[in-house]
Amino acid sequence: MMSQEQNDLITRTGAATPLGKLMRRYWQPVALSDELAGERPVRPVRVLGEHFVLFRDEAGRLGLLDRDCPHRGADLAFGRREAGGLRCAFHGWLFDVEGRCLETPAEPPTSRVCAGIRQRACPVVERNGIIFAYLGEGEPPAFPELDCFVAPDAYTFAFKGLIECNWLQALEVGIDPAHASFLHRFFHDEDVAESYGKQFRGASADSHLPMTRILREYDRPIINVERTEYGMRIVALREIDAERTHVRVTNQVFPHAFVIPMSQDMTITQWHVPVDDETCYWYAIFTSYRAPVDKAKMRAQRLELYELPEYRSRKNKANDYGFDPHEQATETYTGMGADINVHDQWAVESMGRIQDRTREHLGQSDKAIILFRRILREQIDKAATADAPLMVLDERHARSIQGPATMDGIGPTRGWETYWMEVDVRRRRGAPWMAPVPAESAREVPKLAAAE
Ligand code: FES
Ligand SMILES: [Fe+2]
Repeated sequence: MMSQEQNDLITRTGAATPLGKLMRRYWQPVALSDELAGERPVRPVRVLGEHFVLFRDEAGRLGLLDRDCPHRGADLAFGRREAGGLRCAFHGWLFDVEGRCLETPAEPPTSRVCAGIRQRACPVVERNGIIFAYLGEGEPPAFPELDCFVAPDAYTFAFKGLIECNWLQALEVGIDPAHASFLHRFFHDEDVAESYGKQFRGASADSHLPMTRILREYDRPIINVERTEYGMRIVALREIDAERTHVRVTNQVFPHAFVIPMSQDMTITQWHVPVDDETCYWYAIFTSYRAPVDKAKMRAQRLELYELPEYRSRKNKANDYGFDPHEQATETYTGMGADINVHDQWAVESMGRIQDRTREHLGQSDKAIILFRRILREQIDKAATADAPLMVLDERHARSIQGPATMDGIGPTRGWETYWMEVDVRRRRGAPWMAPVPAESAREVPKLAAAE
């Protein structure tokens, strides 16, 4: 249990708050590239409680400006994209992507007012389908060489979804390996092909031992958590017998992302970005290690579940997430259908807009959450000093942050500690876009009967 002050410290992200200062040291996902794909690439963006307008100028350059026009405050999100920038629809003042005022057409030709105006503009970059912005002071950090950024665009797919609660509880469900045995429990096993929202329903390692059955029958995983140079690694072990253990390796990438396996060939890197303190977006890059992805198909699958323009789940609080008591009695633990993203969304939104952590009681299965909050508090303190917080990287250090490795499958009960690393090496060696693995780690990987 924690005090209200402690809960505020780790949830509140306004510009003047300690966490707000820490969060502003990192690149933040602010839109999908898809959102600027139409005829008028201009969109309002709200992030960390601040209002911006995001646009692509006629030359293709991206800009993120404060949303209120510096003349008399009209909304630049309704501006006209023309003449090399964004023009306010009220009196025609024109701004470029760097926030320079280029024209004030209602002023006399001799006016110098333009020269004194500089609209706040944040650095913006586009990486594999996501537009990232840096809201902080000074130079932005370098991007780590995570697989989701290293993989060519054709091997990645980006999407997002609205969650109506604080960013931290949205993140914490992703570093909580125990919940999958309950929240995502299915009472019947079926031989389903791997597809979206069914990560926990595929045939997993062994057709006689579907993942749904492993989660259902081995519901008290051993959870190992360790600090890493990027955040935390979480290993959840479900021992099936003396030979076989189900191993799931996931990662928390500081400050607000996780990297988890979606299948043997694909990972999900997912950020939890505060819109404000009571709403967040998850942004994800799906990264394929085997073949290019079918972006149109992946997008169409998700648009059946999410509604534009807000990327709101069609099953949501307003319709009780599709809750069906009969289904809950006979089919699923939640009664909310088979899409595990809906289950997670219910879980985190049902805790309230900002979970009241003065009333919670943590157990041993929450150890990753406990460690994460400790790291978060440490880094909040660090942000108040001259030291660079975790993952505020320079170019050299950024090159050393790779992967991170994930795994979801059956390994040996004795030797799983090295087995998951070997699985990762094997996957990297197979990825067409991956640089060759150094010789010392490229040794022959032992094959296990029950593996993959
Ligand atoms: S308020 Fe924008 S130009 Fe006047
Ligand atoms: Fe989940």
